[in-house]
Amino acid sequence: MNELEAKIKIDNLTQLLNEHNYKYYVLSQPTLKDSEFDLLLKELEKLETEFPQFANTESPTQKVGGAITKQFQTVKHKYPMLSLGNTYSEDELREFDNRIRKSIGDNFDYVCELKFDGLAIGLTYQKGKLVRAVTRGNGVEGDDVTNNVKTIKSIPHQLKPGNYPDEFEIRGEVFMHKKTFEKLNDKLKNELEQKGFDEDEIREKLYKNPRNFASGTLKMMDSREVAKRPLDCFLYFIYCDIPVADNHFDSLKKAESWGFQISDHYKKCKTLEDVFSFITNYDSEREKLSYEIDGVVIKVNDYHQQQELGFTAKNPRWAISYKFKSQSASTLLEKVTFQVGRTGAITPVANLTPVQLAGTTVKRASLYNADEIERLDLHELDEVFVEKGGEIIPKITGVDISKRKPHAHQIRYATHCPECATELIRKEGEVVHYCPNEDGCPTQLKGKIEHFIGRKAMNIDSLGAETINGLFDKGVIKNYADLYTLKYEDLIGLEFTVGDEEENKKRSLQKKSVENILQGIEDSKQIPFERVLFALGIRMIGETVAQKLVQHFHTIEKLENATMEDLLTVHEIGEKIAEQLLKFFSDIKNKHLIEKLKNAGLQFEIVHDESIKRSNKLEGKSFLVSGVFTISRDELKKTIQLNGGRNVSSISKSLDYLIAGDKMGPEKLKKATDLTIKIISEEEFMKMID
Ligand code: IVH
Repeated sequence: MNELEAKIKIDNLTQLLNEHNYKYYVLSQPTLKDSEFDLLLKELEKLETEFPQFANTESPTQKVGGAITKQFQTVKHKYPMLSLGNTYSEDELREFDNRIRKSIGDNFDYVCELKFDGLAIGLTYQKGKLVRAVTRGNGVEGDDVTNNVKTIKSIPHQLKPGNYPDEFEIRGEVFMHKKTFEKLNDKLKNELEQKGFDEDEIREKLYKNPRNFASGTLKMMDSREVAKRPLDCFLYFIYCDIPVADNHFDSLKKAESWGFQISDHYKKCKTLEDVFSFITNYDSEREKLSYEIDGVVIKVNDYHQQQELGFTAKNPRWAISYKFKSQSASTLLEKVTFQVGRTGAITPVANLTPVQLAGTTVKRASLYNADEIERLDLHELDEVFVEKGGEIIPKITGVDISKRKPHAHQIRYATHCPECATELIRKEGEVVHYCPNEDGCPTQLKGKIEHFIGRKAMNIDSLGAETINGLFDKGVIKNYADLYTLKYEDLIGLEFTVGDEEENKKRSLQKKSVENILQGIEDSKQIPFERVLFALGIRMIGETVAQKLVQHFHTIEKLENATMEDLLTVHEIGEKIAEQLLKFFSDIKNKHLIEKLKNAGLQFEIVHDESIKRSNKLEGKSFLVSGVFTISRDELKKTIQLNGGRNVSSISKSLDYLIAGDKMGPEKLKKATDLTIKIISEEEFMKMID
């Protein structure tokens, strides 16, 4: 075989095997027997050894399975991806209609469609084959997510035979069905619980709604993972240099005949009254759809008329969206309960008769604090309105006074802790009530231990909330320092309750779990000082504050002996935080706890790791780290600090750089783009300090 023949053969085999890998790993629809695949792979391997100059990095001999992308390629849109103007009322829609009539007269049709709540995608087809899928991005250029989009079953890789143009783009919305969202989010919640994340962390990590989940999924780097989170897609607009029909309606029909999924819910409307009845119908029917919509899109049907109307800088003049008001439902307030957190803060919770809202069942709503209960003037067994505004946790927006029960009592805020019966306090100027029984309230004590073992603190993931409960209730441990004197005999056979308290399912610790727990506790002795400080659970000392304190004071002794004045010299440490620190370290019980932890061998001073680069290269620059990186986020933050940079926790105009990792939230990205903040990758960041 000569060189040219070898090159052609290697290229062909590479392409063929990659396609089969994709079908096998991503689509789970293999079309080749394993043995046939192996034979071809062996042939390729052999050729690559003989002609190494032609082996390429894309070769299936170099990787397994689905496509993993380090970073998506940015692609410029051939036709800019515009958004639509929004209307929220009939009047605004009438104004839109008047503008159109003034411009093109009365002889036209509208097409009304649903406004799918997902993320826009542009699919390019060449000779009937899907060649590229690009996200909206900034409207001018977006991310090439073709491999991920290929996992969506309803998007054809190859069109059915038909008279489609050689090349065209079709746009639509990628979304996740409500049921899929609930199932996957529940699964994620269970996984996080098992890993020992606390409630706040779980809330932060869970996807807020199907759109968020779909968007997070489409931007994943590993298409095998995408394939595990089924997405769907409706197409709604064709772009082609030579139009495929005279009007939008006929184009949709054609697209359907070529194999695209077009929603069943669209309609030609002659008058504005027809448009209003389409809107009213779907405003009430949307609950029944298996996916979320947030309004209706109204488009002028005829392409010539669309052209005549043209565009503003941002939107077409021939289309607009009508947004529904946020969804609400009414239900019975069964009772208000009060939850105690690890710091003693009380959260009132409304327990409701389960009601369907935006496709999910709502049983509880947060009432935030006493002011909120007062503002709502809640009475026992009130009929309340609950609303969901794109978030998982619904809120109560009002009371249906007409249904108030006669002689119903006003809901009073708890006066005593529901867990330990201590009288609650509310400090001057604060909205939150606290249970002051820090040393005796079992829920607070257990909460402190749970926080201590948490992933961002001591990361003892072989222990979980349920085992802590068991250990505490049996009196084996009273505080987190007691973990370090636990012995095998204390743990083996220990019974604890799993799942719902009411179910009362019991488990007991077996040899393997006990060994894992003891090993986890032992390993935690290597956790660096800043995380130990965070683990202590001092009120107002979060991860970032703990890091700042450690950078400044270096040892626990210096921190313990710091005066108010000393503390206030630390950048971003204010009086309130300083007060909490002074209070904590002046308590003799805390001094004992720290002494015990020190004796156990925990890290209470900063360790200078010479392998970490230090410089002033980032002096004066602020950074926000978001997403998943090749190193841990903590390490990345530390590197920023050690090179003179400042870590911040939210996006604002003054932010200099957003370091974007895998799985970064789409909202953050949007906000950063809107504020024109520099978005850099981990690699680009590393270059800055190199
Ligand atoms: S048409 C130039 N039709 O809403 C017209 N958009 O705010 C392009 N959307 O970017 C859009 N359902 O992501 C159109 N039936 C529909 C839609 C729809 C949802 C989204 C789309 C668009 C955004 C505009």
